[in-house]
Amino acid sequence: MLREQIRAFKPRLVSVLDQERASSLRAEGVEVVYGEEGLIQAATFPGVDLVVSAVVGSVGILPLLAAIEEGTDVALANKESMVTAGEIIVKKAQEKGVAILPIDSEHSAIFQALGSKLGGEGIKRIILTASGGPFYNMPAEAFKKVTPREALAHPIWRMGPKISVDSATLMNKGLEVIEAHWFFRVPSERIEVLIHPQGVVHSLVEYVDSSIIAQLSIPDMRIPIAYALSYPKRLFMDLPVLNLVELNHLTFDPPDVEKFPCLKLAYQALETGGTLPAVLNAANEVAVEAFLQGRISFDRIPHVVASTMDRHQATPLHDVEAALEADRWAKAKVLTFIQKVSQ
Ligand SMILES: NC(=O)c1ccc[n+]([C@@H]2O[C@H](COP(=O)([O-])OP(=O)(O)OC[C@H]3O[C@@H](n4cnc5c(N)ncnc54)[C@H](OP(=O)(O)O)[C@@H]3O)[C@@H](O)[C@H]2O)c1
Repeated sequence: MLREQIRAFKPRLVSVLDQERASSLRAEGVEVVYGEEGLIQAATFPGVDLVVSAVVGSVGILPLLAAIEEGTDVALANKESMVTAGEIIVKKAQEKGVAILPIDSEHSAIFQALGSKLGGEGIKRIILTASGGPFYNMPAEAFKKVTPREALAHPIWRMGPKISVDSATLMNKGLEVIEAHWFFRVPSERIEVLIHPQGVVHSLVEYVDSSIIAQLSIPDMRIPIAYALSYPKRLFMDLPVLNLVELNHLTFDPPDVEKFPCLKLAYQALETGGTLPAVLNAANEVAVEAFLQGRISFDRIPHVVASTMDRHQATPLHDVEAALEADRWAKAKVLTFIQKVSQ
């Protein structure tokens, strides 16, 4: 697919995961770089007016900071970077006068409900909606037997493997709570999550005067992506309309955090702050990968994350190195643990 994209769009620079992939693409006649260094080169390419960061995982942090350092606006899908180093990223963006525009559909909805402002004046509550994922109504005892294939079959969105598993554990919503905190500067106790299986109300903002403003659309990532690309204008999108009459009803329920403890863990990480959100994210990244490789069962994911968080002594995030160090520490801890249990 990347080869086809290169032929169609003739980009001036392409960055891929590793040297082997880079070598195989060089015949296309474009400059191909690789690894984290390659991502940084792409994020700081001269003349770029907007960097879209949509890699998965904390590997996105340094390229994101490099773009901000260059003074380039960023459209952000890569939530793991905000979760791991939100404090540093937001401070740096403020210093450099750089806008970070949300791509995540929930954060795009909040952004739009706030009149497309990134500040959080007059907000009483942010309400993030969640579809609940494929297992919301499954009894918890059955989680042990869930296969990667089942976890990847999201009822509403078609997404990459990592975020699909995160949606099934509700960790995705937990990461989004932390992301919302950094985007809109609202404390955790004023960020609420509601299960909304229809997936058309993408999130809501309640103001101090008790008005609630929501953004609705068909669930299609092209809508929030287009808004981040065209902001402050709107692009014409030739998409199916949301038929409210056919839809007929919208439901909202509080999440079951006993059955889906990842959400509770994310709140705990945000409340403690410092390096703990980095540990939550890193432990989850490795646990999800291990589940996808069949090395741990689905129901072990929250346990692995919780026990890694328990073993971590959180410290303040003075700089990005502190976040990256916590990320490395947690990934190594989880890998050792998984090696032990799968022996
Ligand atoms: N999918 C959605 O609907 C959605 C919605 C909201 C937010 N997000 C967020 O967006 C991010 C991406 O999610 P996704 O679902 O699009 O994941 P995905 O389908 O797995 O795509 C991630 C992409 O990043 C590339 N990548 C990873 N590391 C890289 C590196 N070091 N250098 C170059 N490319 C690299 C991968 O390349 P390979 O193909 O070579 O592995 C892949 O193409 C995640 O943070 C997710 O939470 C996604």
